[in-house]
Parts: sequence; C-alpha cells; structure tokens
Amino acid sequence: MTDPILSVRDLAIAYRTGRKESVTAVSGVDLDLYEGQSLALVGESGCGKTTLGLGLLRLLPGLGEITSGSLTYRLKDGRRADLLKMKKEQLRRFRWNEAAMVFQGAMNAFNPVIRIVDHFADTLRDHSDGKQRWTKAEVEARAGELLETVRLDPDRVLQSYPHELSGGMKQRALIALAIALDPQVLVLDEPTTALDLLTQRSIVQQLHELRKKFGFTMVFITHDLGLAAELADRVATMYAGRIIETGSARDIFYAPKHPYTAGLINAVMPVKGERPALESIPGYPPSLKAMPDGCAFNPRCAFATAECKQDRVPLELLTDRPLAMHHSVACLHHDQVILRRKENANV
Ligand SMILES: Nc1ncnc2c1ncn2[C@@H]1O[C@H](COP(=O)(O)OP(=O)(O)OP(=O)(O)O)[C@@H](O)[C@H]1O
Ligand code: SF4
Ligand SMILES: [Mg+2]
Repeated sequence: MTDPILSVRDLAIAYRTGRKESVTAVSGVDLDLYEGQSLALVGESGCGKTTLGLGLLRLLPGLGEITSGSLTYRLKDGRRADLLKMKKEQLRRFRWNEAAMVFQGAMNAFNPVIRIVDHFADTLRDHSDGKQRWTKAEVEARAGELLETVRLDPDRVLQSYPHELSGGMKQRALIALAIALDPQVLVLDEPTTALDLLTQRSIVQQLHELRKKFGFTMVFITHDLGLAAELADRVATMYAGRIIETGSARDIFYAPKHPYTAGLINAVMPVKGERPALESIPGYPPSLKAMPDGCAFNPRCAFATAECKQDRVPLELLTDRPLAMHHSVACLHHDQVILRRKENANV
C-alpha cells in the first residue's frame, strides 16, 4: 500500500469561457489513490467533482484543460506513467483498459441508435491492448458474462436498444460496460442519482459485489453522504474546486475537522436515533469568477478570523498514520471544530 495507483499533485483544471477568458474549476488538488480503496468525492453542486473525475482520466470536454500539476498512474504492468504526457494512442488504450468512467447523467450515455451488444463491441475493440481481436462471438460471450454479473439477462439485454431498458437496467449495463476490460480504477459519477431508492440500494449492493470479485479501485462521486458512508473507505470533501478535507470514512463522518464537512454532515437527517433539528450552511458557494481571498469558505464560516482571509489554506496532515490512511484538513482553526451531532447512523 505504499505506492499509490494514482497520484495527483497540485492539479488545476480550467474551462475556456471566451476567446481570452477562462475559469478555474479545480485547483491545488493533491490526491493519492491506493490499490483496492474506494474513495468518495463529496461536495455541493458545482464544487468541481465531475471536472476532477474527468481530469483524472483525461476525459475533459473540448473547452476544459488541465492547466498545471501532475497526474501519474501505476499501469497494470507495474510501470509508472505520466498521464499528462500520454499521446492520443496511449490515452486510447489507457482509457477503459486501465481506468474507466461511468459518466454523470449516464441514462443518456448510450448512443440511442446502437444496440447494447454493439456498445460492448466498440469498447472492447477500441480500447483493448490489441492482444485480442474480439470477434462477434467473443464480444457476445464477454458482454453476456458481464451483464450476468450485474444481474441482467443477456438474452434480453444484448440485442436491445438503450430506450428499451429501464433507468436501473441502463445504469447496470453501463457499469458492466465500464468494467469490460477489467480496469484497475473505476470512476463513477453520481451513478444512482436519478434512480428510485430500491434501485439505488440494489446498485450499491452490486458495486460491493463487483469490487469483491474484480478488486478494482473506485472513485465514487456523489453529493449523497449516506451513499458515501456506505461505499467508501475514504472520503474527500471538495469545496470551490479544492479538496479541503480527506480521511477515512470514520474520520470524516465521526470527527470531521473542516467546518464545511461538519456542516454537510449536520445537514443530513440520521436514519436512527434522535431526530435533531437539521442545520444548513448559510450562504452559497462562491462564483468561480469571484473567489474570496484566503480560504474560499470564509464568507460562510462561523470560525473565520481575519487570518482566514489572507492566504490560501493548504491541507495539513493531522495524523501520523500511513499515508494511505491519513486524515488531512485545510482549515486554520480545525482544533475548534466538533461535530455537533454525535449520532450518525448512516455510517
Ligand atoms: N464546460 C464548461 N464550461 C464552463 N464551466 C464549466 C463547464 N463544466 C463545468 N463548469 C463549471 O465548473 C464548475 C465545476 O463543475 P462540475 O460539473 O465539475 O461540478 P460538480 O461538483 O460535478 O457539480 P454537480 O454536483 O452539480 O454535478 C462549475 O462552476 C461549473 O459551472
Ligand atoms: S480556514 Fe478559517 S474560514 Fe476556512 S474553514 Fe477554517 S476557520 Fe473557516
Ligand atoms: Mg457533477
């Protein structure tokens, strides 16, 4: 567990918004992902979760670009690769074969005029390492096996068009497609958001089973803390494009040290125990075009002092545990932060 599969240092991502204008959506991100871990990336809408997730796989849309930092991966063969130096062809093989993504809004991620089996054929042929040709029979066998793993009936699903499947079936099929080439890392962006509660539960259960079976490392993007608590070994909280706290699920849900993380937890109703009055976080996240000086959370923070308005606050290591299990926070007054709600039955 000493050599992370994925290492991100000081990563910044910007979107071009005009001929000479751009906004920085993610900045100063340091992140290590260790083999077999499941990391939840949490935070309010617009904080940069999807942007970071896409950046990790160099899948940013045309107007988005990584403007600084480093991004390295340990490939399946053990070599360390600099993802920012990879050329088009290397990237094509890297994606889906080494690391795959289930996109946000996945319900629309399938091409509506292509049958499910042909989505598998395209992914297997376009992204494999070239050692296998993927004949029609091989594609059908692999796709069938994967669909069964996510409890879909291949006889019904393979020849279907996407609109013939329910939302939950589509989501399962997308997860099966993402793991078709046995990637080491799977990034899932809000994979259960549009689904009813029972279907959500079943997808979560499936993800547990798939991880056990295939052993992939997972980045799970969500604004649902309950899901994060259930699926994650580690949690990273994002605010205004930065990671402002990271720790084990236990650290984050029982002893958060950033006022924003504590605020998020206090804003969620526990499912057992007393029903406390929920607290909301006052104000709104800042606009990317008008970031406050110093700690970006300072206009909303009950602990803010003049010092908080001066310089950017870096992540500080709070524990002397091995790095894979550290707790870090970007707050000058973290020693004053105590979770008001002790009962957190979601964890
Ligand atoms: N193509 C784009 N062009 C310009 N700005 C963008 C673009 N995509 C995202 N952004 C901006 O980047 C910021 C981060 O967006 P992102 O989609 O990563 O947030 P998010 O945390 O995933 O939000 P949500 O929870 O709503 O999915 C937002 O302020 C958003 O407006
Ligand atoms: S650094 Fe200051 S403003 Fe930022 S979260 Fe900590 S106390 Fe609040
Ligand atoms: Mg998003």
